[in-house]
Amino acid sequence: MRRIISPSMLSADFGNLERDTKMIDRSAAEWVHIDVMDGVFVPNISFGFPVMKPIRKATNKVLDVHLMIVEPEKYVRRFVEAGADYVTFHYEATENIEKCITEIREAGAKVGISIKPKTNPEVLKDILQNVDMVLVMSVEPGFGGQSFMPDSLDKVRTLVAMREEQGLDFIIEIDGGISSQNAGEVFAAGAEALVAGSAVFGAADPEAEIVKMLEA
Ligand code: DX5
Ligand code: ZN
Repeated sequence: MRRIISPSMLSADFGNLERDTKMIDRSAAEWVHIDVMDGVFVPNISFGFPVMKPIRKATNKVLDVHLMIVEPEKYVRRFVEAGADYVTFHYEATENIEKCITEIREAGAKVGISIKPKTNPEVLKDILQNVDMVLVMSVEPGFGGQSFMPDSLDKVRTLVAMREEQGLDFIIEIDGGISSQNAGEVFAAGAEALVAGSAVFGAADPEAEIVKMLEA
């Protein structure tokens, strides 16, 4: 089974974006997670296109962009142009899921769809065949440093079963409250890409924390 760590730049030091991106570049983490928040879909604002530039410049690793914005179909193309490899939008944020998927693909990136903690994975039943990744939120989106919601593991298991049933191959990613303490059970439930913000950037040795997560 694939094991991927995607450190979230939301917890990086924005005065040292290049240094922190290069740390991930050296580390065992394969992806870099970029959280975009609009203050409408979530009660917080993070950053947008300009911040992607120095990150893209500092690493060749996979840029895993998580859009917590309404009407993502208006912006997904620009995120791909800014260097995103995966663009993930929220199921709850758009009436135009097909349009989001088409725009991301046509621009040349992989497609992710995310669900908030209260959204049942079954709503994705007829969409799964068209995506490369499903992102399960294990906290309410909007802020780093929250506690992991254990019932998100059931959602991961449901998605594993749905994937098997439909004979698909999308990646299952999970985001929120992940650290080396719970990474073992999260991987065991079937998640393959683990996002971690505060656990990585709050660690005395972030690179060692990433290895600990991979080996948990
Ligand atoms: C929350 C973001 C997360 C956040 C995770 O809305 O989507 O990616 O950075 O932070 P931690 O790992 O601290 O829960
Ligand atoms: Zn995120």
